[in-house]
Amino acid sequence: MRHLLSIADLDRSDLESLLNLTDRFVEVSRRPIRNVPALRGRTVVSLFFEDSTRTRLSFETAAKRLGADVMTFSVGTSSVKKGESLRDTVETISAFGIDAIVVRHASSGVPSTIRRWTSAAILNGGDGWHQHPTQALLDSYTIRSHFGSLDGLRIAIVGDIKHSRVARSDVQAFTKLGAEVVLVAPPTLLPPSLEGWPVTVSHDLDAVVGTIDVCYLLRMQRERMVEALVPSLREYAQRFGLSPERADRLGERAIIMHPGPMNRGVEISPEAADRPNAVVTEQVANGVAVRQAALFRLLGTESQLESLEPKGTS
Ligand code: NCD
Repeated sequence: MRHLLSIADLDRSDLESLLNLTDRFVEVSRRPIRNVPALRGRTVVSLFFEDSTRTRLSFETAAKRLGADVMTFSVGTSSVKKGESLRDTVETISAFGIDAIVVRHASSGVPSTIRRWTSAAILNGGDGWHQHPTQALLDSYTIRSHFGSLDGLRIAIVGDIKHSRVARSDVQAFTKLGAEVVLVAPPTLLPPSLEGWPVTVSHDLDAVVGTIDVCYLLRMQRERMVEALVPSLREYAQRFGLSPERADRLGERAIIMHPGPMNRGVEISPEAADRPNAVVTEQVANGVAVRQAALFRLLGTESQLESLEPKGTS
């Protein structure tokens, strides 16, 4: 694996091998000293053209825990403000001698495009509506840690599918790992065509909520909506929000997920978000280990895997 651009590029065994590698970094994270020198001397740049809390901090934490140097590029204070092109920006950063770029951009395809202008490995931190592969990996990891496997699980992804790179990536990862996915949304929040999506669709959350193992709520992405796609947020919350009453109807083992940032009171009620079976902060915690696995897979070597073994064992 040279880059991590899209879940579409990975098959089931690639996904499983990344999740198994994540297990090792979760084990490392439980030690008193959480840092391992697996990527010492390597440099990782985070290049975020779009807002982010979780993804950027998580990637930077992951790189630092692997002993890599981290360069943070803040678009707001850079020459991008003076009109520097994407290509010049990437070529300039590359001239410093770097090993990986984590990129987030509002346009689909940017991570793939910039490959041509650098020899660094590219990790997609979210591109437009297209892909967010590490989110899908951390979501798959979180589900696997609760159920042992995704095989045969029924997962509902609820809400603003149309604008969601998380939904696109999750559908691919979950189904490759053996789960069944049902999309739950009003027609206006679904993509115009679902051809090639291995999913079923429902417009009725009440009909679905009692039948699922995972209830995955998506943020209403108002920044991407050019027109009003729902009559009002209140009405949306009434029909598609996870209210306490709906959360009560989930199966005993079912979990509630959200990629963050949550709009409490819109797609999820504050009370449902704070239930013990809501695993949103677990998703964030697993995100660091997943990104360590991704960075290590692209930049590390087999022999460095040994540095992960606890001292005094083996
Ligand atoms: C998501 C994103 O930016 O794609 N957030 C995240 O990375 N955790 C989802 C969102 O913004 O709704």
